[in-house]
Amino acid sequence: MLKIGHRGARGYEPENTLISFQKALDMGVDGIELDVHLSADGLVVVIHDETVDRTTDGSGLVNEKTYEQLSHFRIEKNQNIPTLKEVLDLVDRKCFVNIELKGNGTAAPVVAMIQEYVQVQKWSYDDFIVSSFEWKMLSETVALDSNIPIAVLTETTIAAALDFAKKIKARAINPDFILLEIGTTEQLQREGFKVYPWTVNEIEDIKTIQNYGVDGIISDFPDRIQ
Ligand code: G3P
Ligand code: CA
Repeated sequence: MLKIGHRGARGYEPENTLISFQKALDMGVDGIELDVHLSADGLVVVIHDETVDRTTDGSGLVNEKTYEQLSHFRIEKNQNIPTLKEVLDLVDRKCFVNIELKGNGTAAPVVAMIQEYVQVQKWSYDDFIVSSFEWKMLSETVALDSNIPIAVLTETTIAAALDFAKKIKARAINPDFILLEIGTTEQLQREGFKVYPWTVNEIEDIKTIQNYGVDGIISDFPDRIQ
């Protein structure tokens, strides 16, 4: 059962920051999950929302700011918005990286970065998972490079996610854990997919979901996953 740190170790450190990812690594995670958008000048940056308002001291849309502008916004504990490259260099293959495509236009630059890390830095495709609720971006990812492991995110319907996962030959289906039952988990696995539900934080929920036999759990508190 894989232990996957949501936005790093969001229960302990500011989400999607280098100290959050380091905390998750210190907890011995198998993988980290993070969210990406594009800056106005085309850099892949790690931030959940489409604006900087909630998590930084700045305001405005991420994709209307250059990376130089974004880099000046402060996050708690003296952090700033990292680039995807900074996070990958921090991780240094110590765990896999689940990149969730949030912002429009992120598929192509993320594929290019994965290919660079595989070809130049000697990472493996299995060091990555690309996921998204925007399934069109997953189709685009597969069309650009079918070696990249894909996870289909869903917060509404497992049946539609299963159909789409078959179509694009995804590796995994990552549902909101509320949608899961033991029968559905087993069905998805019989169909050949890994199941990594999110965001499972309470100990009781973690136990229940573990009893379903899922392949991994995405949690703000990855140390709670035994
Ligand atoms: O990748 C799973 C989970 O992170 C999806 O929801 O809103 O936390 O990005 P959200
Ligand atoms: Ca996410």
